[in-house]
Amino acid sequence: MTNKYVLSSSILSADFARLGEEIATVDTAGVDWIHVDVMDGHFVPNITMGPFIVETCRRITKLPLDVHLMIENPERYLEAFAKAGASGLTVHVETCPDIVGTLKQIKALGCRAGAVLNPETPVGTIQPALKEADLILVMSVHPGYSGQSFMPESIARVSEIRKKLDALRSSAWLEVDGGIDVETLPEMKEAGATAFVAATAIFKNPQGPAAGVKALRALLD
Ligand code: DX5
Ligand code: ZN
Repeated sequence: MTNKYVLSSSILSADFARLGEEIATVDTAGVDWIHVDVMDGHFVPNITMGPFIVETCRRITKLPLDVHLMIENPERYLEAFAKAGASGLTVHVETCPDIVGTLKQIKALGCRAGAVLNPETPVGTIQPALKEADLILVMSVHPGYSGQSFMPESIARVSEIRKKLDALRSSAWLEVDGGIDVETLPEMKEAGATAFVAATAIFKNPQGPAAGVKALRALLD
């Protein structure tokens, strides 16, 4: 049975010296997806991981790999990430002049197609993507780093997109990313989100990542 709600564990806050162990821990504790944050130092200030790490994750776990591409010209790299084992590829509308075409390209590669909006991007920008997307991601921080404070104004943005998806009778996931913890997750769920990304609340949980997963998962079951 598939869960109604998805918890996607961002490895950005994991200890990379023990990546295999960290992923195995959150897998056993009950996360649904592994979220991989790809950053190019252009679209966002930080540089992180590429297809090589996705391929590594693919060997470590059977969980779906939820790959978030914070990169310029994502079209150039979709095939490489799909070949590396990505299950879903999510591209920023700010980087895609033809978002519908890019989503179609992702689907043709056999991946779940996601479109994501930065906090300052008008919600209307996502409209053309709604019919094509398997997932819409709303950023609740400025992308680039884990551990940032949740932006409360993103709650209303999620509600607005929930209404748009419902009007289209879309079953796309509505995912949120940035500052998601035991306080903010219920507010985003109430607003209509169905998939929740968390890095700090899982991997920096004082009781360890398994406790972090259990605390968030308990709010979703
Ligand atoms: C931010 C990334 C997030 C990040 C979330 O640019 O897209 O996925 O890892 O980290 P937390 O949960 O710590 O806000
Ligand atoms: Zn992310």
